[in-house]
Amino acid sequence: MYRIAVVPGDGIGPEVIEAALHVIEPLIDAEFVECEAGDACAERRGDPLPEETLETCREADAVLFGAAGETAADVIVRLRQELDLYANIRPVRGFEGLRELTGEPYVRDDVDLVIVRENTEGLYAGVEGRFRDAAYTLRVITEEGTRRIAEIACDIAEDRGADAVTCVHKANVMRETCGLFRDVCREVVEDRGLKFEEYYVDAAAMFLITEPERFDVVVTPNMFGDILSDEAAALVGGLGLAPSANVGDEHALFEPVHGSAPDIAGKGIANPLAAILSAAMMLEWLGEKEAAEAVWEAVGDAIRERCVTPDLGGDKRTMEVAEFVRERALSRVRS
Ligand code: NAI
Ligand code: MG
Repeated sequence: MYRIAVVPGDGIGPEVIEAALHVIEPLIDAEFVECEAGDACAERRGDPLPEETLETCREADAVLFGAAGETAADVIVRLRQELDLYANIRPVRGFEGLRELTGEPYVRDDVDLVIVRENTEGLYAGVEGRFRDAAYTLRVITEEGTRRIAEIACDIAEDRGADAVTCVHKANVMRETCGLFRDVCREVVEDRGLKFEEYYVDAAAMFLITEPERFDVVVTPNMFGDILSDEAAALVGGLGLAPSANVGDEHALFEPVHGSAPDIAGKGIANPLAAILSAAMMLEWLGEKEAAEAVWEAVGDAIRERCVTPDLGGDKRTMEVAEFVRERALSRVRS
């Protein structure tokens, strides 16, 4: 039996987490331990991330996280650091019928790639300062940090049956930091018997829109990964559909990419699919591949059959979508 720490957080966080739990509860033998964090917790307890929440997350087999509000930096960024979750994995998978549903001409039904973003180093490590009239951010990339993210990208490529890993960098300009990142990635990827491909980040940004089929598994430093993964999320339906995993050697945390969405919180109309797909990624990471695949396919059913919330042009409520996905996932697992 697994022990899962559940951190619903603020705003729509608790709503989409309730939905995700509704879907996965019958699919997995697990104990779910709910813990507090976020704005409301800070108000009540004077601490956005209490020690016992951190402890529960550390002891759990995995963490399912909703969203924090204004305290996000003190909660999710801190959790990533405390649990050393160095790989941010963002799958970008289109669903049949999505372009028609959203009415957006740039949405693609046929995209299937994954962005593996380094989560602890680079420009987001917070090494910043001021000197006289200048402000600076120091970009530090290490060989060890690059090696471990490249290994994760190779694991994912092997799991997907991909024959190549694509490194996205800007080594023609940032010769040292991106140069090291590219060289170490190439070494790891070739050692693993995979093909090494590379793009400069500016070209990659263009090709993601014009020819996303060029990409399968993309590995890239922190800030490039942040930007490219939002760009890629837009290709497949946006925030309401974008799941993610934060993975390290010891721990893993799964969360929708979106925040607490205060503008729609409490109305029961938040799109639960990003949280549901994040929970599916958790199932997969735990080794429950059949259940994970059933959830992905059930989400595909919901989109194809237009059982979706208003952000995707539907009229369903959060828990109606969850109920639909739960039933479909269950019947797929049973058949
Ligand atoms: P947001 O992701 O919360 O919302 C952006 C827009 O997308 C809003 O119009 C919202 O209604 C919509 N949206 C987001 N998720 C949706 C869903 N599941 N269904 C339907 N519509 C959805 O980002 P925003 O507005 O920039 O930030 C709001 C709060 O969330 C802030 O306090 C911010 O600090 C926090 N935040 C927390 C994150 C985390 O906990 N990982 C990540 C991003 C923001
Ligand atoms: Mg971002």
